[in-house]
Amino acid sequence: MRYLNFGIKGYLHRAGLMIFTSYIILSIAGCTRSSEKQSSLGADETHKEKFRPQYHFTPKEMWMNDPNGMVYFEGEYHLFYQHYPDSVVWGPMHWGHAVSKDLVHWEHLPIALYPDSLGYIFSGSAVIDWNNTSGFGSKDNPPMVAIFTHRHLNGKPRGFESQSVAFSVDKGRSWTKYKNNPVLVDENSLGFRDPKVFWHTNTQKWIMILSAEDKVRLFSSANLIDWNPESSFGENIGAHGGVWECPDLFELPVEGTQESKWVMLVSIGNGGPNGGSATQYFIGDFDGTHFTPVNEDINWLDYGKDNYAGVTWSDLPDNSRRVFLGWMSNWQYANVVPTHPWRSAMTIPRDLYLKCTEDTYRLVSSPVPELIDLRNNVEVVSSQVISTNLDLNLKNNQLCQSEYIFEFENATDNETLKADSIIVEWSNVEGERLEVGYLLKKNVVFINRTVSGLTDFSNEFPVKQTAPYSSDRSLKLHVFMDWSSTEVFVNDGEVVMTSLFFPDKPYEDVRIYSKGGEITLKEAKIWELNSVWNEDKRLAD
Ligand code: FRU
Repeated sequence: MRYLNFGIKGYLHRAGLMIFTSYIILSIAGCTRSSEKQSSLGADETHKEKFRPQYHFTPKEMWMNDPNGMVYFEGEYHLFYQHYPDSVVWGPMHWGHAVSKDLVHWEHLPIALYPDSLGYIFSGSAVIDWNNTSGFGSKDNPPMVAIFTHRHLNGKPRGFESQSVAFSVDKGRSWTKYKNNPVLVDENSLGFRDPKVFWHTNTQKWIMILSAEDKVRLFSSANLIDWNPESSFGENIGAHGGVWECPDLFELPVEGTQESKWVMLVSIGNGGPNGGSATQYFIGDFDGTHFTPVNEDINWLDYGKDNYAGVTWSDLPDNSRRVFLGWMSNWQYANVVPTHPWRSAMTIPRDLYLKCTEDTYRLVSSPVPELIDLRNNVEVVSSQVISTNLDLNLKNNQLCQSEYIFEFENATDNETLKADSIIVEWSNVEGERLEVGYLLKKNVVFINRTVSGLTDFSNEFPVKQTAPYSSDRSLKLHVFMDWSSTEVFVNDGEVVMTSLFFPDKPYEDVRIYSKGGEITLKEAKIWELNSVWNEDKRLAD
């Protein structure tokens, strides 16, 4: 019951109910369509507003949450997303849409799916139906099929949440909802949403994994329309601080072996390692019916507070590649972060890998190599011992739009340990600062944003976020800064932390502190990163 309550309370909290009721009445009566309205917030065409990410995906304006329907087709990466085009707070959900040829530069397209009499368009996935099993296209022109949740707030027609499908035969440019929607209902379940669908080669079936309050459920289908229950997973395993949402399930090779394992991602609305929303994962085996985990460990995909509801792309041409994208926010404060005229960004896309060391499987995230294209004006800080602190004195005048790689020697080797902590600090003249660091004796990586700038919009925001981490290797911190976000990849993504911050003035100084003794900086490399805005032309070339 706890989970049901959380679900309803959560959505009321998301400010939807009243807006929803009037919205549905108006749209059924044909009075309004969100996209036909003029923008009321006046987005700046240069997209250089305060806090506006320059290389992370953001909607041009208005509200965005989860990434949806990520699929690759004929040279384009599609990104759909939870979108409310009439406000910067959560409301009646649509699927916004953008495409990219390189996962980095995005062309914004018209809204793909609008709410209708069955409800809001909640999260879901998309696949290419190569063999036209659904009959929505043809073998020569396979349909792109979106499988999503219809959320009806009064439980009509059959249940609060049901699964529906829509298809496109013109590369996602126009969409037709299937006439007999919904295709999968559960009258007893309040939370029954976020279907992720994939083709399971061994059993030659479509598999759907979706969240059902405190667990996930699996269904199979021959045609994407008729779904049969297979199994469920999770009631007594994993983290349960909040409702389960946005699952994903995929197979990955284990690096350096002939083995492969299945990875299940499950986002939880509350109870993450640093409070609020977060994404956990399980490693195991999947036989087309049941998922069997290799152990009962709780694993976090990202320890920072701002990576939620992330899933992976379907149908990539290189099928050993798994590219992940998350929503860079947290339900604790997503509706009140100080950005305008848009709210929320996605993380940078990340390649996922599976490693096994000392019998422990670990999901490792790595920034996609496509991002390297954005690098400009590198500066290199060469090897030196730091006994108190080092001002990097960079020429770079866009420290908040840059990529950093810091390598420290034997920083984690307790035998030769000198310092207690290594801290990289970005700061401005107002004394606002963001710290990324490693506590060598405590084996903890952290991001401290307590005095990073604007924080008073939520009590849950000004916190020091930590992740347990120990390694006998030297320490490498790979950091992406983009005006209001930082993403920290520790030792090639063995631990990842993603965090928002909102400095009143941009940071203009970077220093490395060594506390309690000396540390050796092997090298630091810093690149300015180009903006991806206003490059629609480049995409068309
Ligand atoms: C996750 C989520 C999903 C739901 C969507 C609604 O952030 O709550 O479970 O489908 O957002 O916008």
